[in-house]
Amino acid sequence: MKLIGKGIASGKIILAGEHAVVYNQPAIAVPFFAAQIETLVTKAPVEHLIECDYYKGTLREAPTSINGLRTIILNVMDYLRKDTHPVNIDIISSLPSGSGLGSSASVSVSVVRALFDYFDCEINDSILYDLVETSERIYHLNPSGIDMRTIINSKPVWFENRDDIKVISSQLSGYIIVADSGIKGNTKEAVSEVRELIREDFEEINKKMESIGEAVRSIQTNLFSDRLREVGHSMTYIHNLLKSINVSNDTLDRLVDSALSAGALGAKLTGSGKGGCVIALAHDTVSSQKVAKAMETEGATQTWIYSLKGDI
Ligand code: PMV
Repeated sequence: MKLIGKGIASGKIILAGEHAVVYNQPAIAVPFFAAQIETLVTKAPVEHLIECDYYKGTLREAPTSINGLRTIILNVMDYLRKDTHPVNIDIISSLPSGSGLGSSASVSVSVVRALFDYFDCEINDSILYDLVETSERIYHLNPSGIDMRTIINSKPVWFENRDDIKVISSQLSGYIIVADSGIKGNTKEAVSEVRELIREDFEEINKKMESIGEAVRSIQTNLFSDRLREVGHSMTYIHNLLKSINVSNDTLDRLVDSALSAGALGAKLTGSGKGGCVIALAHDTVSSQKVAKAMETEGATQTWIYSLKGDI
């Protein structure tokens, strides 16, 4: 056992394919290293203690809103057969929650890594997936798994379904501007509402999911040939399809419009929508800054500029 265990995890950005990926369409996601979650584990005097943005106190009395976190901690302690060792778990995050950047999966990955580190145990990706999936199911009901796969792989991934995940090496030279709308999204709610829409009109909504899938395939082709303009075009096309299945809102649409007016090659919501972040694509740093400024003027609470070549 170490004096202190540490675990770090990035966020993720879904470039394209959110929601459709739940219905067996492909998606592309990249790790987001500009913000991260760090978990520190130390010895606790009597029982497990936890400190995070939402709660500070004993794990036993933690609110139900962090049930996924409680479950993952207890599962790891059980897996490692360390139930009798009280720990103090401190979660420090620069990744905004409910923003479509994968914060729940990121918290889980960093907590599991930190506990394994504290007890000086080796961990492999397959154990990490299994442990993290339990908490993702509590938060997201029926997650596609794209968040945790991208975060654990720390590489851009092509995700077709649980059994078809490929690490991809993009040749894209542009910049992604990430803008937080400041409105918290709720993945579980958004995914359930889309499921309800599909129930009501399978043919129509499934056609839209297939169109998103086609656009994702076209982005994949263009990623390898560095055709930024075409990638941008597909991103905006996907945003409009997501809008038509009601997962956007006026704030996200305004951020998308402001990015496009400022010269972005394309823009779309990212993650489950109804809040959270918008991403835009730009050629170079100068145009990225212009786009970021336009989105801030439109009300974005925070923006990050992410080089597709240098930062992933
Ligand atoms: O909002 P996030 O970051 O949890 O992303 C959810 C992505 C969805 O496709 C909407 C759901 C899923 O499980 O893939």
